[in-house]
Formats: sequence, structure tokens, C-alpha cells
Amino acid sequence: DLNPSALMRQTLLGVSRNTALRQVIEQAPVSRDVVKRFVAGDATADAVRVAGELVDTRRQVTIDYLGEDTTDPSQASATRDAYLELLSALSEAGLTQDGAAEVSLKLSALGQFLGRDGHAIALDNARQVCQAAANAGTTVTLDMEDHTTTDPTLAALAELRQDWPWVGVALQAYLHRTEQDCRDLAGEGSRVRLCKGAYKQPESVAYQDKEDVDKSYVRCLKILLQGEGYPMIATHDPRLVEIATVLADKEQREADSYEFQMLLGIRPDEQRRLAGAGAKMRVYLPYGEDWYGYLVRRMAERPANLTFFLRGLATK
Ligand code: FDA
Repeated sequence: DLNPSALMRQTLLGVSRNTALRQVIEQAPVSRDVVKRFVAGDATADAVRVAGELVDTRRQVTIDYLGEDTTDPSQASATRDAYLELLSALSEAGLTQDGAAEVSLKLSALGQFLGRDGHAIALDNARQVCQAAANAGTTVTLDMEDHTTTDPTLAALAELRQDWPWVGVALQAYLHRTEQDCRDLAGEGSRVRLCKGAYKQPESVAYQDKEDVDKSYVRCLKILLQGEGYPMIATHDPRLVEIATVLADKEQREADSYEFQMLLGIRPDEQRRLAGAGAKMRVYLPYGEDWYGYLVRRMAERPANLTFFLRGLATK
């Protein structure tokens, strides 16, 4: 009983691993232009430039060096080095002050799936990034990937937080387990980014119906806002932004004790409106050459993003 948009989402997430299609899309001349709306550029300098522009408009940023499912250790080290270079460039540009620019990490890009040692390799790389972030005076948030990575990611989080208590994590409202994870992570000093969840997940672990995901999001939101931690409310959904605002008020949350987060290029007017109204607003800013997986998830979420892309192809 899939509706057309659910069907589109499943199809797109299903084809996201089709390598032939991937090549066509990656090599289409228009791709670069269209990708620009959602991705800052290929190089460190692009990320720093776009971060500066956002910070100038009262928004903060969390920067993601694009890449996932790393298959060899040198790729994992290269990803780590990209973050180290980024953090020192941000620091030099004065952008890490007060945590204005922080970084988001995918453990799979740091080597999580490299066989039996994967967890240790990813953790070691993540440690080096955390130390660099600490030196620069800012923070790190772990992205959450598909449901098979939730436990290892939370285990890595616990280890990292022993040395750097400010390391944050994304939790996905579509998973049945997330309410409990929110309870476990609602303590003082904890930074949790609550999102709906972007991967195709089986019914055994995840709500499939949008309405059920939204209800779960609100339950999780309540737990986090009632807790002692720092909730990061990552959604473009106007209804959830409104509910979050009302709940934060009800819990007498100070404006700087939580933040909203949105993706680069999505609802920029709303980002500016929230920031202008005194809310903390952080933009997730991806950069790097490996933009394919990221872009397909954005298309799957919203057919309008796909139309935007196809229209670009047709007019080139
Ligand atoms: P959803 O896609 O359900 O849209 C709800 C409503 O929002 C729409 O009906 C529309 O009104 C509005 N809207 C959405 N997109 C719009 C657009 N392009 N233009 C105008 N209106 C729009 N996922 C994950 O699995 N792991 C992670 O670590 C992260 N990290 C992350 C960080 C940040 C900062 C964000 C914002 C999101 C993530 N995500 C994520 C992605 C997240 O799980 C989710 O897939 C997307 O945010 C889409 O869900 P929404 O909450 O935006 O609502």
C-alpha cells in the first residue's frame, strides 16, 4: 500500500547502489551545477568559504567531508586527514570560535567496515579528529548511518566521550529503539541531533509510515527537551519546528540551550527566519568529491529535489 512518494523514495534508495546509473549521474555535465545547491564544493577552501558566508548571516555550521563505506585503510586515513586539514583551516579563519563551525563524521568513512579491525581503525581516526577539534576549540558530531551501525556508533560515542564529553551523535526517529536511546543520552553534557532518518530500513526495526515517524520524533523531542543535554533539532518539517518551539518554551529552555539544524540549500529562508528570531540555527554543510550517496538521499526525501535535478539535465 505504498503511496507514490513512498514508492519513489524506495526506488531511489534502491537504485542508489546501481553503479552504471551512478556513473551516468556523476559524469553528466549538469551534475556539478545542480550539486552546488546542496554541496559547498570539492575542496577545503570551498567549505571554509561557504562556512564564512553562513556565519556572517548568524548561522552556525557543521561540516561533513563527503564519503561513506570506505573499503581500504588508506581511504580512511585520507578522510581523517581531510578533517584535520579542514579543522586547522577553520581555526585559522577564526571560524571555530564559540563552536561556530564544528564537524560531522561518518564512522563508515573512517574505516568502520574494514574487517575485524574496522571498529578500532574508525575509533582511532575519530580520536585524532576529536583531538584536532579540541585544539581548535570546537566540537564533533557523529552522523548515524543504517541501523546495523547504531550499536557500534553508540559504543564509539561512549568511548570518545570519556575523553571529549562534548562529542555528539545523530539519532533517527524512524527506529523503534530511538526513544530509549534518547532516554539514555538525555543527561548533562550530552549533545544529540534528532533527525527522522534517511536510509531504507526494514519494518522489523523502523516505522515505515511518515505519520508514525513524526509521532516518534515528537516523543523523542520531549525526552530530549526535558533532559539535561543539548538537543539539536534537525528537520525541515515546519510542523516539527513549530512543535519544538512550543515544547522548548514549555520546558523553559533558554534560547542557547538547544539548536535547530537544517541542510545546506534546504529552506534557506526558514534558516534565516529562525536565526533572525533569536534561535540557534546550524547548517549541515557537506563538501568533497564523493557527493553521490548524499545527493541520492536528498532526492529520495523530496521529489521536488529530483525535479530540480532533472530540469537541470533537460535544460543543459
Ligand atoms: P521530511 O523530508 O519528512 O519533510 C517534511 C516537510 O519539510 C516537507 O513536507 C516540507 O514541508 C518540508 N521540506 C522538506 N524538504 C524541503 C525542501 N527541500 N524544500 C522545502 N521544504 C522542505 N539522517 C540520517 O539518517 N543520519 C544523519 O546523521 C543525519 N543527519 C542530518 C543532519 C541534519 C542537520 C539534517 C537536517 C538532517 C540529517 N539527516 C540525517 C537527514 C534526516 O534524517 C532526513 O532524512 C531529512 O532531514 C529529511 O527529513 P525532514 O525532517 O526534513 O522531513
